[in-house]
Amino acid sequence: MDFFAHLEMPSLCLRDAKRTTAFRAAIESAVEPGDVVLDAGAGSGILSLFAAAAGAGKVYAVEADEDLADRLRANVALNGFDRVVEVICRDVRSVSLPERVNVAVAELIDTWLLDEHQVPALNALRAAGAIDAKTRVIPHRYEAFVEFGEADFDCYGFKLPFPAHDWPDADGGVWHPLTFRAISQVVKVFDADFGGPVDPAFETAVSVRPAAGGVINAVRLSGLVLLGGGVSLRDTPAFNGSKILPVAEVPVTAGQAVTFRIRGVRGGSNRHVLAISVG
Ligand SMILES: C[S@@+](CC[C@H](N)C(=O)[O-])C[C@H]1O[C@@H](n2cnc3c(N)ncnc32)[C@H](O)[C@@H]1O
Repeated sequence: MDFFAHLEMPSLCLRDAKRTTAFRAAIESAVEPGDVVLDAGAGSGILSLFAAAAGAGKVYAVEADEDLADRLRANVALNGFDRVVEVICRDVRSVSLPERVNVAVAELIDTWLLDEHQVPALNALRAAGAIDAKTRVIPHRYEAFVEFGEADFDCYGFKLPFPAHDWPDADGGVWHPLTFRAISQVVKVFDADFGGPVDPAFETAVSVRPAAGGVINAVRLSGLVLLGGGVSLRDTPAFNGSKILPVAEVPVTAGQAVTFRIRGVRGGSNRHVLAISVG
């Protein structure tokens, strides 16, 4: 079982109130009475319950993990929504729904959409006819950004350049600090619009002109998630946390133009597929 499907992850998501209340607001603004709703990667089932409470006539809660799906079924019944919410234990990339849905909620988001299945899941649902151009998709867009800079990878007296989430709650004094000093401006790398198919592979060149000199040895990846209904999220304690990744060192002077080539795969596997090089 991979990290994002581990039992612990949905419980962290549930307790992340900033994330969860934002999804609740977007669901309440999108769902109309009697709507058919899909919750792709239902986990604890909280987003299915929000949709059912908002008046959905039917909610398909699709969850790949068997233990989670069993717990979810029990909790849906405990809350009196078992006539509305149908739990389907299946990989959402291969599920077959009996009807098109009006609203699709997919919280399979991770930073830059690299490791979770947001892109392949929505593409597969579209190809299978479960969602189409009229479906309201939550979130409906992901914007990805990068900054180039200098990270301090010193840890306990050793040099340990290592990919790391920089979660917004990690500064309570109990975590080893991971400092990142941005040398470049923030640059947008891609927009993924879930209103249509999204190509999993991306490749782009970004040019930066550092305001100060230094040695670039890392990038900070971040993202803006547009949920709809005027609701958007950046990083929260268990969602879309900025990632600091080591890159090969590039000495730069102030004002020097440097071009980086970035290519990756959104949701291709549970292995980070991302390459960043000068050129
Ligand atoms: C980040 S959690 C979100 C849980 C819940 N929707 C929420 O927002 O609180 C993602 C959930 O999706 C499930 N999942 C991941 N990939 C999946 C896939 N391809 N098909 C079905 N479920 C998947 C995981 O097991 C996990 O429970």
